[in-house]
Amino acid sequence: MRHLMSPLDFTPEELDKLFDLANDIENNPAKYAHACDGKILATCFYEPSTRTRLSFESAMIRLGGRVIGFSDAASSSASKGESVSDTIRIISCYADICAMRHPKEGAPMVAGEKSGIPVINAGDGGHQHPTQTLTDLLTIRSLKGSLGGFTIGLCGDLKFGRTAHSLINALVRYDNIRFIFISPEELRCPDYIIEMLKKKGISYSEVIRLEDVMPELDLLYMTRVQKERFFNEEDYIRLKDFYILDTAKMGLAKEDMLVLHPLPRVNEISVEVDADPRAAYFRQAQYGVYVRMALILTLLELA
Ligand code: NCD
Repeated sequence: MRHLMSPLDFTPEELDKLFDLANDIENNPAKYAHACDGKILATCFYEPSTRTRLSFESAMIRLGGRVIGFSDAASSSASKGESVSDTIRIISCYADICAMRHPKEGAPMVAGEKSGIPVINAGDGGHQHPTQTLTDLLTIRSLKGSLGGFTIGLCGDLKFGRTAHSLINALVRYDNIRFIFISPEELRCPDYIIEMLKKKGISYSEVIRLEDVMPELDLLYMTRVQKERFFNEEDYIRLKDFYILDTAKMGLAKEDMLVLHPLPRVNEISVEVDADPRAAYFRQAQYGVYVRMALILTLLELA
């Protein structure tokens, strides 16, 4: 039995197979409409979510399966003091596969150790968000044609943003990728990631102004300032509108640069940018369903 805790749990070859499957699902949805007949997905969400939970549910339903779960720790037995280890033992009796989001780093991994069914980490605190990364990689591969040979700017909250951490970790396995980290001083990428890049000899730079690097980018990955992970409100208010991508800044970018964002967006991308053909974040959300369908099939060994 296999879980998904980090994007690195799959080799690049396994990821290629997963993305081929996701593209086949995109092109031939009817072929997969009954692939999970009789199967049940449990979504155990101890932290808010719209996209991740509903895209998992949509993925399972589109495969012919059914869904049970909770979307709030307060409505689960966690509010009575039950541990995730006990909860997952119970969920294993009710479902065939589980997607879990938790505010504590490592909680889905603890659940995986006691689980009788595959567990997917759907986001653990400020740590990792592997299925968002699978979504991001599939989007890049589908829209850019490959997963190497580009300069990617990651902009915003690189300190607390788990989607950025997961994506950087996953991209270092591909060739000729240059990272440009764009953040205010207070929200810089954690040292452990910088150390990892140095150790691997991967090219990166850190800047504060988005305008300065815009013309160099092939991909711009915008992120939201992670309000819920700040220790004080004042810092959040000071930093929340540090970056606002608008049409003037888009004017500095390459004609084929793509803008990605895991969403939800707050103010960091002005709505006027949505009409720009380079804005790929809504297409990215659609890829999130295909890749989760492929992942469910793979972990249930139905692919
Ligand atoms: C992200 C998350 O939960 O980390 N959202 C998502 O799953 N698409 C990004 C965010 O909340 O900023």
